[in-house]
Amino acid sequence: MKKENSSRIFSDAKKIMVGGVNSPARSFQSVGGQPLVMKYGRGSKLYDEDGNSYTDYCLSWGALIFGHAHRNAILAAKKTVERGISFGTSTRAEVDIARHIVKCVPSIEMVRFVNSGTEATMSAIRLARGYTKRPIVIKFDGCYHGHVDDLLTAAGSGVANLKESSSLGIPKSHIENTISLPYNNVEVLEKTLATQKDKIACVILEPVAGNMGVIPADVTFLKTLRNLTKKYKIVLIFDEIMSGFRTNPGCVQADVNITPDMTCLGKIVGGGFPIGVYGGRKDIMRCLAPLGGVYQAGTFSGNPVVMRAGLATLKLLNNDFYAKLNQRTENFAKEINAFFEENDIDAYMSNYKGMMSIRFAKGPVKNYKDAQEASSNEKYGKLFNHLLKRGIYWPPADLESFFVSGMHSKKDLAGLMEALKEFFKE
Ligand SMILES: Cc1ncc(COP(=O)(O)O)c(C=O)c1O
Repeated sequence: MKKENSSRIFSDAKKIMVGGVNSPARSFQSVGGQPLVMKYGRGSKLYDEDGNSYTDYCLSWGALIFGHAHRNAILAAKKTVERGISFGTSTRAEVDIARHIVKCVPSIEMVRFVNSGTEATMSAIRLARGYTKRPIVIKFDGCYHGHVDDLLTAAGSGVANLKESSSLGIPKSHIENTISLPYNNVEVLEKTLATQKDKIACVILEPVAGNMGVIPADVTFLKTLRNLTKKYKIVLIFDEIMSGFRTNPGCVQADVNITPDMTCLGKIVGGGFPIGVYGGRKDIMRCLAPLGGVYQAGTFSGNPVVMRAGLATLKLLNNDFYAKLNQRTENFAKEINAFFEENDIDAYMSNYKGMMSIRFAKGPVKNYKDAQEASSNEKYGKLFNHLLKRGIYWPPADLESFFVSGMHSKKDLAGLMEALKEFFKE
């Protein structure tokens, strides 16, 4: 595998960009080796600066449900960009996509567009605090909601109110009002909400976690959460930035038939362009400026190019498309798990419809602690590099999810299956 051009460009990058990257997860730090420098993508494939090709299962961290350079998104973006790139004014494009989202996701009665998932969750919790006039935010261990100061905490060993930040540079005061609880633990949830109820503004979670590998929340856990948040008048926020429009047009909340008060979206919704969305009940959204006292603004928010590319993508996503994609992914996970079982291998492919992840233990895991115990940088690094040599690109970090797009062929998936079996047989 030729690497000269990638190496040269990356070594230039390291001199002027921190670690040579613009996001740490791209750095290959946990898998070893040096990041590849990509030049272009088509369908399920990525091509690097040395002309190597890869079947891509990272897909811009889940943003590309139709793979790279999908014609509809490109045509919509091109047509729009020729009329001007950004106006900083109202446009019809933003109304059109807002209408589509509101139609697909009934819990969202009103939306606000922003430029990243982080911006969406940060703004959603500010709005929830403004609406309830309460300070505390509840999150769950292992759920990632972007690099929002208040949300970068992890509870130690499942102890509900033990606070430690996951990053330097975050004053204690920022996380004093954040409580991180164990995912899928009804008992701890009930106890915490009951004791702190008058101080809790919102509970935010990924209804299918994708940032500690793929772990779907138990439906009973979600139902309890919904009932209690309703009872205590706490705003329930589903972070569907990764799962939204990944499994069906109504997102995971339609799968589990639970209506959150607010939802955050991103990734797929932008058709590959930077985006974040938050929305929900009208009475909550109306607390946002210019109607209400919660301030949030953005120079590029609702950018027409993003809005048009996003809408062109969302319009292609129908039940038929999801049925095929979900089935293919499920079949894949079933086959590889049968192989692990037959060969008594300590590995498990966790999947939720079109989302997958691999853990190095038998059977599924339910929470962050178990996910960490079943993770291994060393094994994952070896697996990652084994796949890379065979022209397969996965997320270069353990505990991440990977995705199948509508452009992945049977042959692509057969190649991944063969490479996985080869690795684990060794
Ligand atoms: C569930 C979830 N929420 C929020 C974010 C943050 O989004 P962004 O990286 O666009 O800021 C991510 C990013 O991966 C995510 O997976």
